[in-house]
Amino acid sequence: MRLAGSEVLEVEPFAAEWMLAQRPAPQLSVIVPTFNEAGNAAELVKALDRAMPDIAWEVIFVDDDSPDGTAAAVRQLAAGDHRIRCIRRIGRRGLSGATIEGMLASTAGVVAVMDGDLQHDEALLARMFGEIAKGADLVIGTRYADGQTPPSGLNALRQKGSAWATAICKRLLKIRATDPLSGFFMIRREAVDAIAPKLSTQGFKILLDILATQKTGLRVVELPFEFRARRSGQSKLDELVVIEYLSLILAKATGDALSIRFILFAFVGASGVVVHLLALKAGLALGALVFTSAQAAASYAAMTWNFFLNNQLTYRDRRLKGLGALKGLLSFYAVCSVGTLANVGVAHLMYGDQTNWWIAGTAGALMGAVFNYAATSIVTWRRA
Ligand code: GDD
Ligand code: MN
Repeated sequence: MRLAGSEVLEVEPFAAEWMLAQRPAPQLSVIVPTFNEAGNAAELVKALDRAMPDIAWEVIFVDDDSPDGTAAAVRQLAAGDHRIRCIRRIGRRGLSGATIEGMLASTAGVVAVMDGDLQHDEALLARMFGEIAKGADLVIGTRYADGQTPPSGLNALRQKGSAWATAICKRLLKIRATDPLSGFFMIRREAVDAIAPKLSTQGFKILLDILATQKTGLRVVELPFEFRARRSGQSKLDELVVIEYLSLILAKATGDALSIRFILFAFVGASGVVVHLLALKAGLALGALVFTSAQAAASYAAMTWNFFLNNQLTYRDRRLKGLGALKGLLSFYAVCSVGTLANVGVAHLMYGDQTNWWIAGTAGALMGAVFNYAATSIVTWRRA
């Protein structure tokens, strides 16, 4: 069989095998998570090539099936350069998850993590590698070398937000590094292997997760660099990333007793209780509905709210879209109807017992929420 456009297949089979067998393993894998960075990939590879003439490196792009064709662009580059690899993930999203997957796909003794948009200074990589050779376990590219000056590559709002977010996590999680939110660092393979099972695949802040998770005392070195402005494409950091970030801090502050996903779900559930009570009050005020029907209607209002908010936030990495979202909503209703029965039953019992309408309503809604949680992970947002 011949595939169109594939020069790789034209290489003599034995020659190709020989070349593979003889090629030494890379010393360093640079992991580059990408989402819509097609316009930056070639430039980044050139920059790496210039910056590390004395290191046997490879670059692993981990692309979440970007609609702009980043994976195809990387594959094209890789056809002419064995140092380039591409992992294309389907049906999943997330910077941290992609980074972890890339680090684990590498066999090099040292891995670096770097953004794919040329904001990180590639010249730092060789110096980071030097620090690892001298005994560091983790080298961080810091944007706050003097602990003060905000990074110039961010706009005013992001500068404030970044400083604020850094201050919170340093205080709450007692982290000493000047820039625990940096997306640019290098780490020894043994450290990655030891920590990886405990890291969260959700969120943007993998370095903070590593720093908060490691208990064995990594030798950390920081090197300052100038965070450049993005040249092509857009940042993917949005408001939801901020909520995910706060959940990561909470998860770490509870010693991982609660997962980020559970915290987000609980947050959504709490907002659902408010929706539920408002709907219940409205239903009762109309006077047209008896308590039981008003409670049932309020449950559906809250379930619909919970579904869409969870789809946006809690399960953004597996977000259902279009017809999938409609099916998801229906399956959410279907499985949760058991929860609703329990909800209405409990509320009805308590209300009949002369309890306040709002205590009865809350108890019923909480009962329903437990069912909703089980339903989301098993049926509605099951792993692809
Ligand atoms: N695979 C994958 N999946 N990659 C992603 C995703 C995703 O869901 N979201 C973003 N990326 C990639 C981008 O394509 C880029 O290469 C890199 O992750 C950083 O994303 P940006 O959207 O450019 O983030 P930023 O510049 O706003 O923030 C960066 O810098 C901050 C300061 O160093 C990130 O590295 C932050 O984590 C960091 O705090
Ligand atoms: Mn960026």
